[in-house]
Amino acid sequence: MNEVTVRSATDADWPAIWPIVEVVVRAGETYTYPRDLTQTQRRAIWMQTAPGITLVAVDDDQVLGSARVTPNQMGGGSHVANASFMVGPAARGRGVGRLLCEAALDQARSAGFRAMQFNAVVETNTVAVALWKSLGFDIVGTVPEAFDHPTKGFVDLHIMHRRL
Ligand SMILES: CC(C)(COP(=O)(O)OP(=O)(O)OC[C@H]1O[C@@H](n2cnc3c(N)ncnc32)[C@H](O)[C@@H]1OP(=O)(O)O)[C@@H](O)C(=O)NCCC(=O)NCCS
Repeated sequence: MNEVTVRSATDADWPAIWPIVEVVVRAGETYTYPRDLTQTQRRAIWMQTAPGITLVAVDDDQVLGSARVTPNQMGGGSHVANASFMVGPAARGRGVGRLLCEAALDQARSAGFRAMQFNAVVETNTVAVALWKSLGFDIVGTVPEAFDHPTKGFVDLHIMHRRL
């Protein structure tokens, strides 16, 4: 792998982002999205316009992963960002997720968000929980058995938060 860089996503990136999103959504192990979302539904959720942000991590011109940042709530809760991250299976474990999250934190801070919150980190997703903790997130709450994992059954969801 050459040098990985993170930049804003454009509409032209969607065909390369979709296979990464699709594999994660279909697996149903790490997000609360319905596993049968269509490409059109997924695109509407993932490709953000301001104040939301969509990023891609690229190696040469190949998209390795993507991140999306949105206001976590409307109105009085809109100063807290929410974010989602997906890295293609072949590119995992090589620092792409960490790079994407660092960029998302920087961009969210520049956009004026005061904190970032993840609403539903599946407890069995131990790589993600450890990665987010190492990037300054704390588990501020755990909702018991809030996620129906396809093979592990009902498992907990963590709410993770950090100030920006
Ligand atoms: C979670 C996810 C975004 C992490 O992306 P990634 O590119 O694999 O993460 P990184 O390579 O930056 O790895 C982060 C750390 O986890 C470790 N790690 C990554 N994959 C691992 C694995 N399969 N087993 C053990 N450790 C692993 C890395 O060694 C690294 O640790 P270090 O920084 O202390 O060296 C990615 O696995 C993914 O897309 N998963 C499916 C979707 C998902 O779970 N999204 C997050 C929902 S909260």
